[in-house]
Amino acid sequence: MMGVVVLDFGSQYTQLIARRLRELHAFSVIVPGTAPWEEICRHDPNAIVLSGSPASALDADAPLPDPRVFEAGIPVLGICYGMHVLAQHQGGVVAGSHGREYGRAQLTRQEGTLFRGLPAQLEVWMSHGDALAELPPSWQVLATTADCPTAAVLSPDGTRFGLQFHPEVSHTEHGADILERFLDVAGVPRTWNAEGIAQRLIEDVRERVGDSRVLLAASGGVDSSVLALLLVRAGVDHTAVFVDHGLLRHKERDEVEGALRGMGVNLHAVAAEGSFLRVLRGIHDPEAKRRAIGATFIEVFRAQAARLGPFRFLAQGTLYPDVIESAGSHGAAVIKSHHNVGGLPKELGFELLEPLRELFKDEVREVGRVLGLPDAIRLRHPFPGPGLAVRILGEVTPEALAVLRRADHAFIEALREDGLYSEVWQALAVLTPLRSVGVAGDGRCYGYVLALRAVTSLDGMTADWARLPHAFLDRVAGIITRRVPEIGRVVYDITSKPPATIEWE
Ligand code: XMP
Repeated sequence: MMGVVVLDFGSQYTQLIARRLRELHAFSVIVPGTAPWEEICRHDPNAIVLSGSPASALDADAPLPDPRVFEAGIPVLGICYGMHVLAQHQGGVVAGSHGREYGRAQLTRQEGTLFRGLPAQLEVWMSHGDALAELPPSWQVLATTADCPTAAVLSPDGTRFGLQFHPEVSHTEHGADILERFLDVAGVPRTWNAEGIAQRLIEDVRERVGDSRVLLAASGGVDSSVLALLLVRAGVDHTAVFVDHGLLRHKERDEVEGALRGMGVNLHAVAAEGSFLRVLRGIHDPEAKRRAIGATFIEVFRAQAARLGPFRFLAQGTLYPDVIESAGSHGAAVIKSHHNVGGLPKELGFELLEPLRELFKDEVREVGRVLGLPDAIRLRHPFPGPGLAVRILGEVTPEALAVLRRADHAFIEALREDGLYSEVWQALAVLTPLRSVGVAGDGRCYGYVLALRAVTSLDGMTADWARLPHAFLDRVAGIITRRVPEIGRVVYDITSKPPATIEWE
């Protein structure tokens, strides 16, 4: 094989572990922490990582790995809770820690494989109340902190490691180096790269699809565009349907059509603005808007499928985080990233083709690069299926759409001009129904309040508001109020997620 199986016990950082390992070119898959050994073996791992958990190893009903994980002779790295269950199984003792180190801590390392070549002192990230009070027999300590004498531990045979801190979190200095040392010890092959993945995906698609026909819903976003390009490169008979619901951004339809056709995608664009605006008339409630758009999308798409079909496969740009989330691999609370409006129901009657289901978003972008996807699409910000409808608070009217489109375009264009577009994960404008007083020439006026939002994020699950330069925000406010006279006031959203979501709805 293969790489690393990450057993997930519900830590908020589990996906980060898998990402970090892949950044080190080791393939990793996330498997539910309590999965039977047979399921783990299916992946033929060279090493196993046990994630952290909101649970305590002291709880009677603590989720535990299959004991064969510890008996198979495969190298194991236990992180935080994972370290506690590993050590407990080997005869160590876990206790609720009185020091309760949370957040940053100073680690002092001793000699040993995991820290070879690293500084003697490292800042690390702690996030659990329990710690190892007694080592399993013959185990040794590799590192300590002021409050934790067992911050890193090692089994006598040198193949099982425990870390009280989180090497996968970016606040831990040299965290990736520590994970890399573990990969070295475990002899995990480091062959995971975009070229290899792209080649494998092309071959898989070719083999699975054969002479059958594939239908695809193209949105112009990076996932469905990479998927379309994959079908082109695999040389399979495909038809991409692009539904223009009239809720797109400035010139978006032209851009998407031009880019996809230019790549050889067999694209059918459907102008359905009228149908969508009709069903949205009079709707103010955000969920009702989403439902109306979702139902209309399916209706339009179904009609096109019937007209252009028959098809055997429906290709979907499902990504690894969606797979992990819907697998519900653990009991911990999961913040749903979005309600996938613009998605299609299972009962359309096609076989699903989901070639990207093993990949994270940044990997999809890398595969896109290898396949020759233009950067204009490859590095695009995410855009929600229901489009500008979730960025107009209140009723979606042609007038509101026109105002928002102009303002959004001004914002995005300015970000590009100042080289800030790629610095943020997503940027958007929101048209509120609020009007506030202003002065225009000699008179008073009541213009709409427009909110600008820009965030930094890894995957949209959590996000921080982007610290855009004041001079830039000043310039944008000036441009927008000049170009879009209906807008009287521009504000910038300084809320992170959580507690706020990225979209305003
Ligand atoms: P929120 O607003 O929930 O959004 O913080 C997280 C990310 O998801 C995007 N989003 C959607 N994407 N269909 C999508 O494909 C949707 O219905 C949808 N709603 C939100 C949002 O733009 C952000 O990137």
